Amino acid sequence: MEILENVYWVGVIDWDERDFHGFEIVRGATYNAYLIIDKKITLVDTVKHKFFPEMIERIKQVIDPSQIDYIISNHVEMDHSGSLVGMKKIAKDATIVCTQKGKYGLCKYFDCGDWEFRVVRTGDEIKIGKRTLMFLEMRMLHWPDNMATYVKEDKLLLSNDAFGQHIASVERFDEEIGVDEAIKWAKIYYANILMPFGNLIKKKLKEIGDLGLQFNMIAPSHGVIWRNPEKIIESYAKWANFENENKVVIVYDTMWKSTAKIAKAIADGAATKAKVRMFHVRRDALSEIMTEILDAKAIAIGSPTMHNTVFPPVAGFLAYMKGLKPKNKIGLAFGSYGWSGGATKEINRVFEELRFEVMEPLEVMYKPTREELEMAYDVGVELGKRASKT
Ligand code: FEO
Repeated sequence: MEILENVYWVGVIDWDERDFHGFEIVRGATYNAYLIIDKKITLVDTVKHKFFPEMIERIKQVIDPSQIDYIISNHVEMDHSGSLVGMKKIAKDATIVCTQKGKYGLCKYFDCGDWEFRVVRTGDEIKIGKRTLMFLEMRMLHWPDNMATYVKEDKLLLSNDAFGQHIASVERFDEEIGVDEAIKWAKIYYANILMPFGNLIKKKLKEIGDLGLQFNMIAPSHGVIWRNPEKIIESYAKWANFENENKVVIVYDTMWKSTAKIAKAIADGAATKAKVRMFHVRRDALSEIMTEILDAKAIAIGSPTMHNTVFPPVAGFLAYMKGLKPKNKIGLAFGSYGWSGGATKEINRVFEELRFEVMEPLEVMYKPTREELEMAYDVGVELGKRASKT
């Protein structure tokens, strides 16, 4: 598909994938690669190894792939460089363009002994004919090697993972699936991949502003292409700023429904003051839970105590959340126990590591009484009140 004159999408649609290294991608994914036809023929990124034949077929519809002069490797991760070895076997003389850390990473994954590299830094340019490619390092967004490629004449940013979404679709552009729908998928992607890097994203957006870069189009390596780049940049600025809504997210698991009863009482109380979203860690996708947590002011996590500690499925969720480093939240731990507690202490420990404002935990022995559920309701009201003071 020609997305701009002489710029082709030559990626693949992965309708089947549901697990992207732990991130549940409920609607599949795309791996977008782009082919620029100019005096020097340039391929920007590749696709997962298993889709190499499909990508080559797409390239062949435009040119003979052995004519490719440059292969831009914006990112080492295998969903983008998995077909590099195959490409180099066909385009033997192609120069790989990447960052210093990109070269290091590629040569750790592949035998790149005789490959020719051109290592670039922010601001470096390569003239490929009528077009000029400018490179923008995107360190730790989300690997040390990441970069983006900017086609100056087209004001086109080939942003790799940044601004991506995991969604398989026949549509290639944001307005074709609906811009709001595209933002929804981008938010899920951001929450599960980029949330820990909010401060770096803020700096990067400022750097882009300082460089005076303007975008007519942002073409990421996952999902649809942004013909409305201002919408996704605006959303990234908001997410990177850790802006919260008046929202309480309740996440729990339960053994004999006692913790579930407390969760529901907290939800009823909180709902009198704020928006509430409730999730069960074994029934709901962690990626969906984290998307709601991204912009929620208050998080309540409930777990029964098992073997003096947190219930294992809740422990798994806590590990996932801790890695994604949500910020600027209020935390409430709750749960039931039999003869000794332990779960709420573990939950609070994670809240403290994340520097949440921690509320007094709510613990109930065995099954909650009517009075204890009323207390849980009141705690929910307090949580909702605090969440609405954003
Ligand atoms: Fe970091 Fe899409 O790979």
